[in-house]
Amino acid sequence: MTADPAPDRLGELLTQVLGSVGGEDPRLRDLVGGLVTHLHAFVREQRPTEAEWLRAVDFLVRTGQACTDTRNEFILLSDMLGVTSAVDEVNHTGPPMMTPSSVEGPFHAPAPPRPMGAWIAEGPERRRGEPTVVHGRVTDCDGVPVAGAVLDIWQANDTGLYDSQDPEQHDGNLRALLTTGDDGTYWFRTVKPSSYPVPTDGPVGELLRAIGRHPMRPAHIHIKIHAAGHRPLTTHLFVAGDPYLGSDAAFAVKDALIADFRPSTDPRFGMDGPFLAAEFDIRLVKEGDPR
Ligand SMILES: [Fe+2]
Repeated sequence: MTADPAPDRLGELLTQVLGSVGGEDPRLRDLVGGLVTHLHAFVREQRPTEAEWLRAVDFLVRTGQACTDTRNEFILLSDMLGVTSAVDEVNHTGPPMMTPSSVEGPFHAPAPPRPMGAWIAEGPERRRGEPTVVHGRVTDCDGVPVAGAVLDIWQANDTGLYDSQDPEQHDGNLRALLTTGDDGTYWFRTVKPSSYPVPTDGPVGELLRAIGRHPMRPAHIHIKIHAAGHRPLTTHLFVAGDPYLGSDAAFAVKDALIADFRPSTDPRFGMDGPFLAAEFDIRLVKEGDPR
């Protein structure tokens, strides 16, 4: 380790930059000031060469260029570095019994309203996949059912593809908007999702390969819930036993979000043969809850 050749100059430089951060928005000043402080600390510690710094800039340029209307490489980068999960963590605290939040990911899209109990798998996966019922109850943190909660659901199919990635699926496949009735219960019929790799054909994929990381996300179903008088919740339901639960590329797994997909013949769900059933209750936090 060489001695810092110009510690005073680096300190003066940081002071000058921080002194130049003004404007009317105090929060923006804090955010920019904090970012500048940490970036300068990074340079002081890591001493990137000019070639390395230009390579980093080129990486960010290409990350932006890889974005399209249906693909956001920057969200993917944020997810893969655990920053999205860190932002989620600092923004969603509450009573210990609440259902934890998790990241939204890049595949959310408008979903069709469907009746409770609907089949949401309408593509070829319906023939191939493992028939599955997901059911549960939406309550507040005191166990009171939440009526009129809208569940926005999206998932990959049995081969790990979302409708937007797969020419065999129509838009809206494996997506649904369901609204709870007075008892707060919900259920839908689908196929068991598969674990899947995040897109690796762009700059983020290059980065993962370069740092020796796999791109896999454990099998999951996304659920986003809005209910009047309650905090909105965006979360995941993970499939117990998935081999990637311990190494999610997006660092989004929380123990309370893992559910067993158990063999069932429960006649209540009107299935033709044996199927898997996953029970996942959702506890929302009331607006104004001080806990
Ligand atoms: Fe996903």
